[in-house]
Amino acid sequence: MNTQFTPGDRWLDTAGQPIQAHGGALLRHDNAWYWYGEDKSAHINSKVTTVTGVSCYRSTDLLNWEDCGLCLAAEPDSASPLHGSKIVERPKVLFNARTGKFVMWIHLDASSYSFSHAGIAVADRPEGPFKLIRVQRSFAYDYGYPADDPRRQRELGNAFLDMNLFLDDDGHAYVFHVSENLLTLYISQLSDDFTDYRRPEKLGVTWNRALVNRLREGPAPFKHDGHYYLFTSGCTFWDPNATLLARAPHPLGPWENLGDPFIGPGAIHSHRSQPTSVFAMPGAPAGSFVFMADRWTPRELRDTRHIWLPFVMREGTTTLDFRRQWDASIFNPKPAPTAPALRGALRYTNSVFNPVGVRLEWQQMPGADGYRVYADGVAAGFTDDTFLELPLPLPGVNQAYTVRAEALAGGQSPDSNAVILRFGKPRPCHLSDCEPVRSLTGFGELVKDRAWDGEALRLCDRDYAKALLAHIDSDFVYLLGGAYARFTATIGLHAHRPGGQAYFSVEADGRDLFRSELLSATGQPVVLDLPIVGVRRLRLRAWNPETIGSGHAIWADPVIHPSLTA
Ligand code: DGJ
Repeated sequence: MNTQFTPGDRWLDTAGQPIQAHGGALLRHDNAWYWYGEDKSAHINSKVTTVTGVSCYRSTDLLNWEDCGLCLAAEPDSASPLHGSKIVERPKVLFNARTGKFVMWIHLDASSYSFSHAGIAVADRPEGPFKLIRVQRSFAYDYGYPADDPRRQRELGNAFLDMNLFLDDDGHAYVFHVSENLLTLYISQLSDDFTDYRRPEKLGVTWNRALVNRLREGPAPFKHDGHYYLFTSGCTFWDPNATLLARAPHPLGPWENLGDPFIGPGAIHSHRSQPTSVFAMPGAPAGSFVFMADRWTPRELRDTRHIWLPFVMREGTTTLDFRRQWDASIFNPKPAPTAPALRGALRYTNSVFNPVGVRLEWQQMPGADGYRVYADGVAAGFTDDTFLELPLPLPGVNQAYTVRAEALAGGQSPDSNAVILRFGKPRPCHLSDCEPVRSLTGFGELVKDRAWDGEALRLCDRDYAKALLAHIDSDFVYLLGGAYARFTATIGLHAHRPGGQAYFSVEADGRDLFRSELLSATGQPVVLDLPIVGVRRLRLRAWNPETIGSGHAIWADPVIHPSLTA
């Protein structure tokens, strides 16, 4: 019997087998839950995604799942879009009360991801069998199809990739799916029987484009208190990246970006997970939800782990925090815990001269289910354990750390005592040798000193040995504790990957110190020399409201100096 959710552990079904329901979602029907997902049990140490089919599991407590078998199985006919050599991803199912049918939508593709169609299948029972009744593209919308468009969007209609379904309280259903060579998300109302788009389709009325040119996937929509919310991932194949939360007054938009719901060291890769769906926790107070995600293991997708994290909506937004273990009682209202006593020290591995990080510890507090650590007042990490390791502060910075005990459904304690840690003296240092307290990029991780492919980081015709490369839209915060006086850097777009354009800005304690024009790889790099005397928070951003495509922003020789003349 499973009694706790243990995100990232192997989750066994009632027969003792690992649950194979990836890229999935839940459906509640007749007092039972059905979990549909990709069965990747055939993917063993291989580069090819072998399709077995769509799995269906049943549960009444959300913890213990009985395998109902494949509800849509791969087909032996090599011409079938369900043939084992193809791609069958992100299945979702709704029950249609008008027709009494269960309707599945799926992303069907060729192994090269060039087919990119929606599959629609129906069944009389939640466990299936589902029968594929339609295979189709999305609407044709000429967003400026690339000349060599591998997905033949002019001919076939726009592409259909990562997807989700959303059933609104008024009975209208929507399909969210990735399109336009992955750049843009489409949201379309479904026909009354849920087996097609609502037709005739009309942009802005029955369907819409959202997060345009933002390259987001893994859409996980939900509704709370009259607003619509959407988690998405970035688009880095099977590799994890940062999650973003968006909000809209209507499923068709307009969608406003609320930022990264994760904080701390694991945020940039969402604790190695990618969103797939959200469901409201039954029996819990309004605003209690579960984030469902996948921790993919690309070489062996059958070993992909399920990451379910509880979250609570507050004041129109939320945070997502990784927990090792939890159960539904976490949503029971309770008082805020009292503050723990914090201890901390620099952490060393090989040499007492070279600290590698900091370790903060406290005691377990009654009623607490997590602890949020702050560095100079900025949320720097979360854990449900009684310690947290963080990167080193910048040299010479007296870093003040505090912790607050939290109850997910009860709020936070006051701040603990502050622990101040410092190593070394302020000295000129490259930011590519330091860790930001917050970091976000539009595509993958922050890259330091060498490009992801090993190439030198280049602005115009000059290579830099020390530089930060951040795919837009990127946003980094460094804690300087007032110990530095001057920031110098040379900025522009990576000349080895030209094509992108970006604005850059430098903010100090919320004030604009610098804002660039729109820079490109062909223009001259811009040299910065900015006073930062007394500054505690240095924020570096690069963005482009038009598109994040090819936006490889470089901060070359990004150095903080302890004095104005250094
Ligand atoms: C990321 C998507 O979210 C997954 O569903 C899958 O299509 C992988 N990319 C394939 O690389």
